[in-house]
Amino acid sequence: MQNFIQDIARQAGQISLQYRSRLAELNVTAKPASSKDLVTEADRAVETYLRDAITKRYPTHAILGEEFGTTPGQEYRWIIDPIDGTTSFVHNQPFYSISIALHRNDAPYLAAVYAPVFDELFSAQKNHGAQCNGKPIRVSNCRQLDQAVLGTGFACMRANLTENNLPYFQAILPKIRDVRRLGSAAIDLCYVASGRLDAFWELHLQTYDVAAGTLIVTEAGGTVSDFHNQTKNLPQQLLATNTHLHAPLSRLLTNVTP
Ligand code: IPD
Ligand code: CA
Ligand code: CA
Repeated sequence: MQNFIQDIARQAGQISLQYRSRLAELNVTAKPASSKDLVTEADRAVETYLRDAITKRYPTHAILGEEFGTTPGQEYRWIIDPIDGTTSFVHNQPFYSISIALHRNDAPYLAAVYAPVFDELFSAQKNHGAQCNGKPIRVSNCRQLDQAVLGTGFACMRANLTENNLPYFQAILPKIRDVRRLGSAAIDLCYVASGRLDAFWELHLQTYDVAAGTLIVTEAGGTVSDFHNQTKNLPQQLLATNTHLHAPLSRLLTNVTP
C-alpha cells in the first residue's frame, strides 16, 4: 500500500503538470459557495484518476475527495485533495500539491503529499516516521519565537466569515522572525515536518486539506492540535509546530479575541 499511495501521488502530479503546460486554455470556475474558491479541469482530472486507480486496486475501500465527495466502504478510507493550492496553480506558481491520506478504522495510517513542480514527495506511515523523496525528515529545533518562521493561510471562504485570520496574524507577526503564505496547506504542513517552517496555523481548513500533512508532521516529531492544544476544533482551527513552540503559540492564539 505504501508503494501504491506514492505511485499514484506521482502519477497524479504528472497529470497536473500536463494541464499546467497549457494553463492559458484551462477552464477555471468558482465554486458556488465563494468566488475565491476556484476549481479547474485539472482538479477534476486528477481526482478522477486517483478515484479510478484506488477503486480498481481496492474496490471495498471508502473514498472522500474534495471535488466528487464520498464513496462508501469499510475499514480503509482514502482522503484526497487532488490539487491543494488551486489559486497558485491557476496563477502559474509552483506551490501546489497532490494530497492523499489513507485512514484505517478512522485512524491515520498512510500519507503522501507530492509537489510536482519541485518533484518532492513527502510521505509517512503511522509509527514509521516521515520522508521526503525517501529520506527521513524531522521538524526543526527552533525554541525561540523571535527566531521562528511560520506559515499561515487565509481561507477562501473568508469574505463570508466573521472570524478571519487577521487578528491572529496581527498577534503573531510581531513576535516571530517572519511569515510565509505558500498557498497549499498540505505543503505548509510538509514544510513544518521537514524543518523549513517552524510552525503553521490556519482557520477553516477541511479534512482533505490536512489529512495527509498532519500525519507527516506528527511522524516527523511535530505536534498538531487546535489553538487550545486540543483536538475538538480540528480542522477548523489548526496549529502544527515543531513541538518546542507549541505551548507558546497556543498561548498567543488563545489570547486573541477574534
Ligand atoms: C486551499 C489551500 C490554501 C488554504 C485554503 C485552502 P485548495 O486549498 O490549502 O493554502 O489557505 O484554506 O482552501 O482550495 O487550493 O484545495
Ligand atoms: Ca485544499
Ligand atoms: Ca483542492
